[in-house]
Amino acid sequence: MIIDTHAHYDDEAFDEDRDQLIRGFAENGIEMVVNVGAGIETSKRTLELVAQYENVYGAVGVHPDGVQDLTEADMEWLKSVSGREKIVAIGEIGLDYYWDTAERQIQKKWFVRQLGLAREVGLPVIIHSREAAADTLEIMKAEKSEEIGGVIHCFSYGVEMAREYLKMGFFLGIGGVLTFKNGRRLKEVVEYAPMESLVLETDSPYLTPVPYRGKRNNSNYLPLVVEELAKIKGLSAQEVIDITRENALRLYRISGRDR
Ligand code: NI
Repeated sequence: MIIDTHAHYDDEAFDEDRDQLIRGFAENGIEMVVNVGAGIETSKRTLELVAQYENVYGAVGVHPDGVQDLTEADMEWLKSVSGREKIVAIGEIGLDYYWDTAERQIQKKWFVRQLGLAREVGLPVIIHSREAAADTLEIMKAEKSEEIGGVIHCFSYGVEMAREYLKMGFFLGIGGVLTFKNGRRLKEVVEYAPMESLVLETDSPYLTPVPYRGKRNNSNYLPLVVEELAKIKGLSAQEVIDITRENALRLYRISGRDR
């Protein structure tokens, strides 16, 4: 079955039918989803979803757009909840120079701090990096992120950058963009990267694959990404599902015993 390694079911876009959707995943071939925090509030909501649904795992962390008001007390709280059952990563964290919501110095400071938190608590990281390729890589190298491990979510850079992250042992998160007409760069990356380094993700409610692009995304659309990935890699859909599932379990260090 399919594992969605990155989604935001806490989002208000799901207020109407969240319960129905999540309970219906199994019959649509979706084994589990990892709900990813983007701030303190959404990390709290993530903890609730993880407790409520067996098929929801979680990550806690603060997205670069939300770091302006981050405090030491928040960091303590993140640390305190990171050890809870089914919390499998620190994220999403990183740099976003497209929106530039917070000053770049502030983004960098909290990115480094949250990488440190992940190292301290022994969890992998979920990296958000948009139009900030050089700084993201520089910080991750300086912080020896190859010892932390994790995924570059919604990978949006080219083959050169992919090579750097693959060398560090990171996974690349592949989602709806792969089906976009202007997704050529990502297709090249997928062609280049070994299958063992790719994981499936939706970033729901965002980045909906074609032909539903523009509508609200959800994990049930992942077979459209699988199909595209299978075509590029010359594999069957089932092979793509099986390999990316193993990769996701390895990324989040979920052992067979937990499942
Ligand atoms: Ni996200």
